[in-house]
Amino acid sequence: MTQQQLPGKRTHLTGTVHVPGDKSISHRALMLGSMAQGTSHVEHILEAEDVQTTMRVYRQLGVTIETQGATTVIQSPGFARFSAPSQTLDFGNSGTTLRLSLGVLAKQPFELDMSGDASLQQRPMGRVLNPLKQMGLRTVTPATGLPIQLAPNRTLNGIQYTLPVASAQVKSALILAGLQASQTTRITEPIATRDHTERMLSAFGVTLARDGKTLTVPAEQKLTPATVTVPSDFSSAAFWLTAGVLVPESRIKLPAVGMNPTRTGLIQLLTRMGAQIPVQMQSTTGEPIGDVLAQTQQLHCIKVTEVDIPAVIDEMPLLVLAATQAKGVTEITGAEELRVKETDRIDAVTTELNRLGAQITALPDGFRIVGPTALHVTEPTTVHSHGDHRIGMMLAIASLLTEGTITLEGAEAVAISYPTFFNDLAQL
Ligand code: S3P
Repeated sequence: MTQQQLPGKRTHLTGTVHVPGDKSISHRALMLGSMAQGTSHVEHILEAEDVQTTMRVYRQLGVTIETQGATTVIQSPGFARFSAPSQTLDFGNSGTTLRLSLGVLAKQPFELDMSGDASLQQRPMGRVLNPLKQMGLRTVTPATGLPIQLAPNRTLNGIQYTLPVASAQVKSALILAGLQASQTTRITEPIATRDHTERMLSAFGVTLARDGKTLTVPAEQKLTPATVTVPSDFSSAAFWLTAGVLVPESRIKLPAVGMNPTRTGLIQLLTRMGAQIPVQMQSTTGEPIGDVLAQTQQLHCIKVTEVDIPAVIDEMPLLVLAATQAKGVTEITGAEELRVKETDRIDAVTTELNRLGAQITALPDGFRIVGPTALHVTEPTTVHSHGDHRIGMMLAIASLLTEGTITLEGAEAVAISYPTFFNDLAQL
């Protein structure tokens, strides 16, 4: 495990950070490019461990994926002609790769063995396997999590399905399987989740209909190759956005960030807490993109409930950090999904920020945060990433507000989504 000395209390963070490509969109570009027969191109793909995992998996299925300068070139025989991998597919730490791929690979005429790291083995897969089984997917042995062995399968049926949890990964898996089914599939989501799959599919020649909360996926589709540009990741920009808002006398510019409204809940919630965060929109077609300016702001407490959660799900550790600096008691509920992320993020955020003097109580489905608290440690203190990239990076931002000496253990986890994070931090 790598230990990293964190910077400690700062003022005057100024500069411009060009954050790397969006992780969710990079995964989808590789998967849809692999499903389409022919040559697709991806610009500004995220170079990080989770995306490497997706590349490795689809290469094992017979897809050629090469980097040519800033462009990733995907040459695929199409999903109907994937080849049987000679080895187990290893999904590493990547829940998105595994869950979406269960949909992509639900109708392959050969057996598929799937594994992943210790964290991924703990994560619930029944939520995606159960509806896929209703569509006709079969596993060799009963499985609700890794390891999973898919049995050869030649048919999928369309279903009508209401998601019991608001999950873009489950929705996307059902869309990607539905495209291969013999009948139409209808998916209803209780609260809107990120819609990158739906948006990108139209670039690959498939249009889904949406009626309120229900999506209709047409049967027996073929994808046509496409060129996709990945915007900068809002979830990575969120670290600098939060730093800019919380660290005194700061002004941080974040150019050309993905501004899909299903992802930017952190901006809405910080605004509800009293912040002003100017966004200059650059483009609104496909994936919207904008320039964000983060400046120091005074915050007050708010109540965050279930309807707010999907659009801020990956930024929740940062929202809790912000709430430690806000006046009053912030309550966050309806966020039990945080317990089944790369680690239990309710426990990890509470334990680690309280080590720095925060006053956070973990709730079964969220947090109660008393603010504002002056974060400080009286002796050199080690905080832990819990092997979770977003916890590690949130703690680095927390250190900018904390009096005293802090070391981060498990700093290598940042490479999952943002390998250049510590360089960008040093530059500010
Ligand atoms: C993701 C969806 C979300 C999110 C994850 C990426 C995606 O997960 O937390 O980091 O790319 O579809 P859930 O679908 O489990 O909510």
